[in-house]
Amino acid sequence: MSATPHTTVPSSLREPLPMTLPRLAEKKRLGEPIVMVTAYDFPSAQVAQEAGVDVVLVGDSGAMTVLGYPSTIPISTDEMLMLASAVRRGLRTPLLVGDLPFGSYEGSDEQAIATAQRFVKEAGCDAVKLERGGTSVARARAIIDAGIPVMGHVGLTPQTATALGGYRAQGRTARQALAVARDAVALQEAGCFSVVLEAIPAAVAETMMERLEIPVIGIGAGAATDGQVLVFHDLLGIYDGHVARFAKRFADVRAHMVAGMAEYAAEVRSRAFPAPEHFYSIDDDQLEQFRTEF
Ligand code: KIV
Repeated sequence: MSATPHTTVPSSLREPLPMTLPRLAEKKRLGEPIVMVTAYDFPSAQVAQEAGVDVVLVGDSGAMTVLGYPSTIPISTDEMLMLASAVRRGLRTPLLVGDLPFGSYEGSDEQAIATAQRFVKEAGCDAVKLERGGTSVARARAIIDAGIPVMGHVGLTPQTATALGGYRAQGRTARQALAVARDAVALQEAGCFSVVLEAIPAAVAETMMERLEIPVIGIGAGAATDGQVLVFHDLLGIYDGHVARFAKRFADVRAHMVAGMAEYAAEVRSRAFPAPEHFYSIDDDQLEQFRTEF
C-alpha cells in the first residue's frame, strides 16, 4: 500500500496542459473561446502564464508599446528576438507565437524561412505570425513546408497600414471584404494553423467564419471568431499612446504605476524612505573595529 495520501488538487489550482496545435483546433471544435494576448518581456509573460491564457504573441506592436517607436515598421528581427527570448523564459504552458517583423520575410521564401527559423531556434517560439495575403501566402507555405507552424493575419495589417490608407477598419465595402476573406482562405489553404482578423466589420467576420476551418482569432472583428487577442499594454491600461476603439481596458495599471512612483519620490524627498526596516545591521564589535580602522 502506498504511504502517499491521495489528495485531489482542485481544478482551479491545476496547471493547464501546454497548448498545442491539436488542442487549439479542439478548442475550436468544442466552441471553447481561445484567449490570446501579446507579451514582450519576462514579467508580462509571467502575468499571461498566471492568468491562464492559451496563446501568447510576441507582437511587433512591441515596437511601440515597449520600444517607443512611432509604428511597427522600425523594429528589427534582433530586437524582436530579444523580446521573444525574454517571454519564452516567463512562459510554461501557452503556445508562443513570434511576429515576423516588417522586412524580415517578404523578400523571398528563403528569407522567410531563415527568419522563422531564428524565432524557433534562438527565441524558443512554437510558431510565427506574418501579415497579409498576396505574396505572404507563398511565404507562409514555404515556412510551413520547412516545419514551422504559421499564423496568418489579415484585415488591418499594421506593417502595410500606409498602403491600406492608414490605421482604419478594412473590409467595409463588398470588394474590400471579399479581398480580406479571400486572403484568409488562401492562408488556410497554404496550411496556416490559425488566422488573426483585425479591424473588420463583425458581420464580415461572421460570414468568413463559414469558410474558415482553422481557429480564427479576432481583434476588432466582433464576437463570432473562435478567440480574441488584445495588446497587453492596451488591456491593462499601461500604454499612453493612441488606443484603438476595439481595445477594451480591463485595468488602469499605468495610474497605479505613476501613483507608486510619485509616492516613492515624495518619500525619498521627505526622507521617510528608507526606514529602519529597510536597513542591514552589523554587530557592534564589527562596527567599532571598522570605525577604528577606517
Ligand atoms: O503585433 C501585434 O500585437 C499584433 C496583434 C494585434 C494581433 O499583431
